[in-house]
Amino acid sequence: MNQDDMKRAVAQAALKEITPGAILGVGTGSTVNHLIDLLANRVSDIRGAVSSSDASTRRLQAIGIPVLDLNDVDSIPVYIDGADEVTGHGHMIKGGGGALTREKIVAAASRRFVCMVDASKRVDVLGAFPLPIEVIPMARSLVARKLVALGGRPAWREGFITDNGNLILDVAALDLTDAIGAERTITRWPGVVTVGLFAERGADILLTGTGGGVGRQEISHKN
Ligand code: 5RP
Repeated sequence: MNQDDMKRAVAQAALKEITPGAILGVGTGSTVNHLIDLLANRVSDIRGAVSSSDASTRRLQAIGIPVLDLNDVDSIPVYIDGADEVTGHGHMIKGGGGALTREKIVAAASRRFVCMVDASKRVDVLGAFPLPIEVIPMARSLVARKLVALGGRPAWREGFITDNGNLILDVAALDLTDAIGAERTITRWPGVVTVGLFAERGADILLTGTGGGVGRQEISHKN
């Protein structure tokens, strides 16, 4: 089974996590694209979707699912999204597709975060995947210098503008052993819109696609 087959299998498994008749939070990326393709047969089950990107919005609308403004929605039982890396604690790096800010907002508005990955994205410690950070354009160099001081190697994702009109720095070599601490630190810096660490609000359910099937793990956040 190749990586794309695993993404499709995990998206198929994620369909079972949807609350019928409710509003669904929808993430962004190639795994989510598989999910949206599969939702085409479940349109009547979905009251509407809150989308995390213009790209997902276009796909949802193309299959006839109404896309709602988060401001008009009071409750999202389930948010389904992919990740670039995830630990067994449900801590994630996200933002490879550049949609991290809206993803974090929709995740924060949702009761359960269902994360879909293929096995290659499961890690013990985050950080092999460069950490995406969305920054206000005028703060790019300021934030980059602060990341270097923290031991990181930031690279400007040139030519890429987020749905919010901002830039992305992809940061290698950061020590993310304390993912929650790093998320809090970087989030505080002026000019940072969103850091692609999803640790304070991590995944609640982790679906992992492997050659032998899809594993499901419920993550307790009691500690
Ligand atoms: C987009 C994301 C995606 O969830 C992440 O990049 C994984 O993408 P894919 O499903 O294409 O591997 O965070 O901002």
